[in-house]
Amino acid sequence: METFEFSGSTNIGDFLPIFKWVGLSGLEKRLVILQGKRDKFMQDLIEELRRTRDSSDFEGRTKTMTDVLLSLQEAEPEYYTDEIIRGMMLVMLSAGTDTSSGTMEWAMSLLLNNPETIAKAQAEIDKHIGQSRLIEESDFANLPYLRGIINETLRMYPAGPLLPAHESSEDCTVGGIRVPRGTMLLVNAWAIQNDPKIWAEPMKFKPERLLGLEEQIKRWHYAVTIWSR
Ligand code: HEM
Repeated sequence: METFEFSGSTNIGDFLPIFKWVGLSGLEKRLVILQGKRDKFMQDLIEELRRTRDSSDFEGRTKTMTDVLLSLQEAEPEYYTDEIIRGMMLVMLSAGTDTSSGTMEWAMSLLLNNPETIAKAQAEIDKHIGQSRLIEESDFANLPYLRGIINETLRMYPAGPLLPAHESSEDCTVGGIRVPRGTMLLVNAWAIQNDPKIWAEPMKFKPERLLGLEEQIKRWHYAVTIWSR
């Protein structure tokens, strides 16, 4: 919880460099303390799981991701160090949990507040899947309306509204603008995805608005990938 609260905080030194010259800011000091606490929490988990690997009920119990990483550590100890395992645990915890659960919560809330969209999604699922089995990931190709619901949720409520800060490692030119090495780039994804100049009635949940756009986005993404090489 503290990590999530922290990641949303503003570091004044990023905006007013004078604060960088007078030593660590309050936020940076908190970061050092937080990192220490976080590392200890994850290391304690690793130690606990390492201990239970030697106990008799190890074979019978469900394996966690960390159990798997500890098995890999036995096979390749020089690569799968505790530090690497802590890093992977951190990525799963910080990047993979709150983002997914928050997006699911927003999707459910949007569906409940827009009953006509539930009816359309149900009709699509009944038509393509029926009622005798659950949806598989491979079914998504045949469920454009459901894809529209997910994408529209991500548009309206992106789990990372202000993308993590990026920094250019080299001088470069992006879209005709010269970007010197070491420039911090802050992207307000929420503002782009809810910009009334781009989206008609951006505050309205309209899964169908993305249906026709999918092919266009794929082509655009391809163009960006080629261009950025
Ligand atoms: C709804 C779910 C998710 C959303 C909305 C989301 C969103 C994002 C965003 C916006 C970024 C930053 C992209 C950038 O600016 O470069 C990012 C990066 C990342 N995400 Fe997710 N994410 C989700 C789920 C996950 C899951 C489930 C995992 C792992 C299990 C994950 C792992 C990562 C990692 C490792 C990065 C950093 C990649 C890098 O180093 O460039 N994310 N995600």
